[in-house]
Order: sequence, then structure tokens, then C-alpha cells
Amino acid sequence: MRVSYTNTVYAPQSTVSELTLGELTQIINALKETPTLDQIKEWFSKLVLRQRDYDEYRLFNSRKYARNLVARGEFAEMLVLCWRSGQRTPIHDHGGSVGVILVYEGLLTETMFHRQPQGHVRPYDTHRWGPGAITGADVPDIHQLLNLQPQGRDLVTLHCYAPPLTVLNKYSPRSSKVARWREGYFASGAGI
Ligand SMILES: [Fe+2]
Repeated sequence: MRVSYTNTVYAPQSTVSELTLGELTQIINALKETPTLDQIKEWFSKLVLRQRDYDEYRLFNSRKYARNLVARGEFAEMLVLCWRSGQRTPIHDHGGSVGVILVYEGLLTETMFHRQPQGHVRPYDTHRWGPGAITGADVPDIHQLLNLQPQGRDLVTLHCYAPPLTVLNKYSPRSSKVARWREGYFASGAGI
């Protein structure tokens, strides 16, 4: 399996000014159609990486990575995910949505999987994404996100999904069974 390290920051298509998280929230809330993967990547590439902009969403949970809702409209949603060391998603797809991730703090490990003819999944690629890196998942992509940093090293990531996530598929390397999976949200530290 290939493992690559990168600090590559996504290069924007156009020379437009910076965006704050508040301004991007307004854009998400005002959408009239579902944005493309490239459109979301371009928004993220303009974002100012200031902790004070996302501090109110920087909330952790000791049991599981915390999904803190920033914006949710008809066509897209945006969340800040906070991960303690060792916390990880299941192996999953996005059930018909595209997803883009921006790393705010720490090192994100992303492993990509292929579906085998028998139905189980096998890893084929792993990336380690540093602060400022942007990565995207297209509709058929299957992946797992992990904070594999040593104890005490947190990870904070910004995610945008379009359209908003509903029911996802959860896969296993040991079983051909596919499980349905619906994620919860946190708003101001409380599950909703
Ligand atoms: Fe995902």
C-alpha cells in the first residue's frame, strides 16, 4: 500500500480575496443549488485559518470524535470535527454526497479503500494531511479518517458535504456485509 505525506495546499483557480468562516457560512446558507467538489475546494482554499474564527466549534468528546455543526442548508452542510488521539471514523462512503476536508490543526490520516468483488474492502492508499491541506472525496470514494498522532495531540478539521449527509454505507475488510450508518451532530457541545 502506498503511503504519502503531504503539506500541499490546494491551489485556487482564481484570484479572489480571503474568506472568513462566517462569510463561508453565509454562502452555504444562501446556496440555490448543490455546489461541486471543485467549488467547495476553492472556497476552502480562500479560508483564513484563524482559531478565533472556529473556536466556538472547537469542542471535543472523550468517547468519540465530535461533529460540531457550523451550517446546514438544503444544498450543503459544514462541520468542525474535533479528534482526540486514537479517534477514527468507520470505513465509509458518503452515500451520494461529495465531501471536502481542510485540516486546521494536527495531522489527519486518510486511508482509501477499494471494494472487492466479494464485497469486502481493501486499503490501497494512505495520506497524511497537515495544517492547511485540503482533500476531497467524490461520490464513489470509500475512506477512513483517523487521528493517529501520539497521545495528547489533537486534530481539528473542517468538513463540507454537498448535499448534506443522510444515510452512509459502512464497510469492513473482513466481511462483505454493508451496514447503514447515520451520524449525529453536536451544536454548542450538545448532541442534536
Ligand atoms: Fe468521510
